[in-house]
Amino acid sequence: MRANNKNYVIAKEKKIRQYVIFKQKRKNNNIICLGGPNIENYVKELRSFGFNQIISYERDVKVFVKQISELKSKNVCLKQGDIRSNLTISNYFYDLDFCSTILCVKEFLPQIHKIEEFSITFSLRRCSLKDTIKIFFKGITDPTRYSYTTYKDTAAMVTFYTLNQKNYEI
Ligand SMILES: C[S@@+](CC[C@H](N)C(=O)[O-])C[C@H]1O[C@@H](n2cnc3c(N)ncnc32)[C@H](O)[C@@H]1O
Repeated sequence: MRANNKNYVIAKEKKIRQYVIFKQKRKNNNIICLGGPNIENYVKELRSFGFNQIISYERDVKVFVKQISELKSKNVCLKQGDIRSNLTISNYFYDLDFCSTILCVKEFLPQIHKIEEFSITFSLRRCSLKDTIKIFFKGITDPTRYSYTTYKDTAAMVTFYTLNQKNYEI
């Protein structure tokens, strides 16, 4: 199924992982994200978790037009373009909810690991969990900074996320 035909509103397991991650204590209440085709619903969720400023990227023009026509919530900045070229903005939580495998961001991982707080989601359809974990943690000196959770959407998925300092301090 193509990304712009997907309905993330009914993706229950995805919602549970969003709840677990967004409920964590965090420093940054501004978010840079991939709003996707159900942006109004997603933005409402972000607001309910206390996010204030919201910047959403979308590179698919059709999905972007859908977002513009369906978004009613105020104070959301919609940007058409590739989020991978915009990974260095500080004081924002990044929700990198990709619908593809880790291979799409492999070359950007050094930049991604520099983001203070983020979650990142990959499909496991063409790259196994074992390989995805291996690629994600390659060269990482402090793996205790991260946790991950797997779930089933239309395909098996994995989300890696940074842990709040308090959660991993001994
Ligand atoms: C999984 S959806 C986001 C779902 C949303 N987070 C939610 O929970 O409802 C991912 C969206 O990001 C877009 N996308 C994928 N890779 C991208 C990239 N590198 N830059 C910008 N948009 C991208 C896709 O077209 C798709 O609309």
